[in-house]
Parts: sequence; structure tokens; C-alpha cells
Amino acid sequence: LRSSASGPGRRRLLLSTPIFYANGPPHLGHLYSALLADALHRHRGLRGAGPGRLSTGTDEHGLKIQQAAAAAGTSPPELCAHISALFRQALTQAAVSFTDFIRTSEPRHQRAVCHFWGALQEHGALYKGSYEGWYCTPDECFLPESQLTERMDTQGRTYKVSLETGHEVHWTKEENYMFRLSAFRDPLQKWLRDNPRAVSPEPFYQRVLHWLGDDLPDLSVSRERSRLQWGIPVPGDSTQTIYVWVDALVNYLSVVGYPETHGEWWPAAHHIVGKDILKFHAVYWPALLMAAGLPPPEQILVHSHWTVRGQKMSKSLGNVIDPFACIGQYTVDGFRYFLLRQGVPERDCDYYDDKVVKVLNSELADALGGLLNRSTALSINPSNTYPYFSESCFPKILDYRETKALGRASAEDYEFVVSVASLPLQVASYFEDFQIYKALECIALCVRQTNGFFQRHKPWKLNRNHPAEKLWLDTIIHVTLECLRVFGTLLQPVIPCTADKLLSRLAVEPEERGLSNLTFLPRYNGKPCPFEGRQLGPDTGVLFHRLKKSSQHQIENKRL
Ligand code: MSP
Repeated sequence: LRSSASGPGRRRLLLSTPIFYANGPPHLGHLYSALLADALHRHRGLRGAGPGRLSTGTDEHGLKIQQAAAAAGTSPPELCAHISALFRQALTQAAVSFTDFIRTSEPRHQRAVCHFWGALQEHGALYKGSYEGWYCTPDECFLPESQLTERMDTQGRTYKVSLETGHEVHWTKEENYMFRLSAFRDPLQKWLRDNPRAVSPEPFYQRVLHWLGDDLPDLSVSRERSRLQWGIPVPGDSTQTIYVWVDALVNYLSVVGYPETHGEWWPAAHHIVGKDILKFHAVYWPALLMAAGLPPPEQILVHSHWTVRGQKMSKSLGNVIDPFACIGQYTVDGFRYFLLRQGVPERDCDYYDDKVVKVLNSELADALGGLLNRSTALSINPSNTYPYFSESCFPKILDYRETKALGRASAEDYEFVVSVASLPLQVASYFEDFQIYKALECIALCVRQTNGFFQRHKPWKLNRNHPAEKLWLDTIIHVTLECLRVFGTLLQPVIPCTADKLLSRLAVEPEERGLSNLTFLPRYNGKPCPFEGRQLGPDTGVLFHRLKKSSQHQIENKRL
């Protein structure tokens, strides 16, 4: 597939979010999966990396949904239509730039699943067997005894729950279709050994290898129709319903037109998933694909979970964070920035309102917004233009430790310019490594350094009517605006509206906002700067409004 892409370095890529269960409204955790995918998708677009798609959608079949609909006194199709619309709305409001939204109840998906089932059968990967074991409906999976523990309810009755999620399991005994998962242990191990980046970050790769070191029993991939009606019937056997996870995973193929046109995209797919669904994506899915005669996806990018004040987010604890309320409170960009800045894929992260307010006020309102405000103030830049850089004030030198007598810039200034110059590459490599939080951390550091530069030279004290001082004053502003231009450009995938506002204020045209040709301070290297002398864009007000610290927890108290 690499070779079929047009142009060097340009290749197709399908990025995906998991498809969300249509049994309850979206929460912060769902949005986090989607925002990670969105930032990667936007970043690729700005790099001109080649055609890209971002798929998302809703997972609508299964016992869990059937039971949720019954409990809500509605039908599964009605419940799914309602919840699916809520997800679409939440993703749209959060500026997730999805190109495909799939519902597993759509005919195009059902066709793909039936075809996929046929391919499994054709390759001899399925057999009918009797299955006996523990089934966990909230997690929609079968669990071995080793992954269970006992609990006691208020009446003293003992029951079994999943060790990992704490959800209750029930004994099931049925005639099912079984998938020969056990036959795929070696191929899966080989796939992982040959592709050390197939599951990332590294600790999750190790986790999958560890699972593959254990027994890998065959997997029950259908349920008796009498127990589960809300699902896709097994082709040619209407007494059975296809297991919801097989159904759901195939969504990644349905969106690219399986079984007809998927070859244009598959296997150039990167799946973004939470750690709770890693086994389904890194063990079952590649095995199912191999069994159906298709290659595994290129990459599975895994993230951890958000807790709320140290506690698991759950309906019963009443601490589920509503993304609509967050967007209302913190703005779309504020919400996006916080989650992507504070979310570390390798470990669980904790959410609480005060932390959001603190991060956004200090980094977006004060540091970035303040810098724009100060450096574009009419009092220091009355002509409202992108000022000229003066080589005599900031001469190019090879070793900035020996600059004392030259120009007006200090050794510290040279160090700072070097760190901003290296920022675009650093950010690109963090995005490539699925460490968006690190990219944001080093941007925040450079913003702080730029504020330091500005503060150090006190441009408001320089006299514009004095020719030498004017040169230095303009140079300080020029360097600062160049930094802001770099920050604005690099922040586009994370805070698209704010970055647009910032770049528009600096009069950076839409076609000048790409990442592939982002050069910082060209004048320092003796190259022309297209912005010099350009009229700045209109002042459309504060870049990011400071948020008030809440005495009560505003969002945390809004129950879903
Ligand atoms: N329907 C399945 C996925 C099928 S994909 C073929 C599913 N849906 S889900 O709605 O339960 O979860 C969707 C995503 O939200 C998962 O990536 C999951 O990890 C993520 N999150 C759910 N709770 C979360 C947190 N508390 N924190 C971060 N993400 C979490 O699983």
C-alpha cells in the first residue's frame, strides 16, 4: 500500500475511534478516545501526509443494548437512534473531524459482517461446538475462572464478578459457533515480533505478548437467537446471532467499503482504543482478520483511563463527566486542550474541575493569550504591522556563548531561539509516537520562554522615535510574533478555533498554516520573511478568557 500512495511520504491512512456502545450517553472517556484520534488526523492533514480518513460511530447490537432498551421501556432501534445521535452531536460539538460515522445497524455494515463471516467459514476457521462458561453482559465477553472473583450482595448471596471490571457474570451453556483462536497463537506472536510498533505504547505491547504466552482458548462467536435477538443472524443459521464483538470489529472494514473497495485502504489503519478493549483489538481482531485472509491493522494505539478525583467513573457513583457540560463551561478548545495536555496514554489520569481551570488559565489565557495581547498592543506597535527584523540587533552567530559585544541579543536569547527553532520537529516526532501530551508540554515550555524573552527586554520601555531603539524594539516584536506563529501553527490539531484566531490576528493566510513548510525566524538565517511589513489581522478580542475557580465542582456535580 505504501507504494500505491501518490508522491513520496504521502500515503493513505484510516484512523479510527472505537465505536461507542449505544446504551448510554457519551462521557469524558469516550471523548478522550475520539480527541486523540482527531488530533492525529488533523496533524496528518496539516503535514500533507496523504489522504486520510477518521472513522467513528456506534456499536448498537448485543445483549447489553437489548437489556438497556428493555429497562428504558423502549425498543433497541429506538434507543440506538437516540444514543447514536447524541454521540454524533457530542463529537461534532467537540470539533472531532470525522469523515465516516458508522452505525452497526446500517445495512452496509450488516452486509460486510455477513461477508466476513462467510470468509471465516470458507477458511475453515469456524466450527459448531457446545459452549459452557461465564458471560459478562456489561463487558460483552466470556471470562475464564482465573479472571473472576466472588462478591456478596446485601442479602448475603454470593455472586461472581470480573476481576478487571467488577461486573457480574452469568453461567451460559449453549450450542455456539466457535472460532479457532487457538490456532492463531503462533501467527499472532510472529506478527508482533515482526512489528514491534504494532501495539503502542510499549507497556501495552508487552501486555499483549504476555497474554499470548498463556493459553488461548477458542472463542465463542455466536449466541442462541432465543437469548439474543438484537444482532445480526448467522448467515444460513437463523437460530444463532453473531457475537457482538465480531460484529463491532468489522466496522473498521465496513467504513472502507468491504468487501469491494477496502483494498485501497486496508491494512493502512491505526485504531485508537482504550486499555479495556485491548484484547479485542490486539488479539481477537488480528486473528479474525488473518483467518478471513486479510492482514492485521498497522497499529493499535492504546490509552489509559480517566478517573474523577481518584475514583473510577461510574453511573452508580454518580461521577460521570458530561462532555456537553465541559464544553459549555470550558469551551471546545479548553476542553480539548485539557484532555490532550493532561492525558498520558501509559497511565490513568485524574480529572477534577480545579485542575482544568488551573491549566487553562495558566497556559492558554495567561501565557499564550497574554503574550499575543502584549506583543500586538498598539502602544508598542502603533502601525499594527508585522515588524522588521534587524540583523544588526540579532546577528547570526555560531557560538552564542561568545556574543557579548555583538548586537543586542543575549546568550539567553540565542538559546531560546534555538529551542523554538527545534520545536516543529520535536512536536512532529511526539505526534508520531502518540505522545501528544509531550508535544503540548514542550510547546507550553516555549511559550513560557517567549514570555521570558519579552519580559527581559521590556519593549514597552524602548523609545520608538530613537532609530537604534526602534530597530531593537521591532526585532523583539518580530521574534515574538514569529514564536506565536509557530505556536499557533503547531497547536491547530489540538485547539483549532483558538489557533485560527491567533493565526488570523497575525495575518497568516490559510495556505501558510501547513506544518511541512513551517520555518521559524527565516530572517535570522538570512532568508526573506514573507510576513515582514504585512498589516496584522483584526483584533477580535481576548484569545482565551480566564476561567473562574469554582468553589463547588461545577462539572463534577452535573450528573449524567
Ligand atoms: N463498543 C466498544 C468498542 C467497540 S470497537 C470495535 C466499547 N465501547 S465503549 O463505549 O464502552 O467505549 C469506547 C471507548 O471509550 C473505549 O476506548 C474506552 O476505553 C473509552 N473509555 C470508556 N471509559 C473511559 C474512561 N474512564 N477513560 C478513558 N477512556 C475510557 O468499548
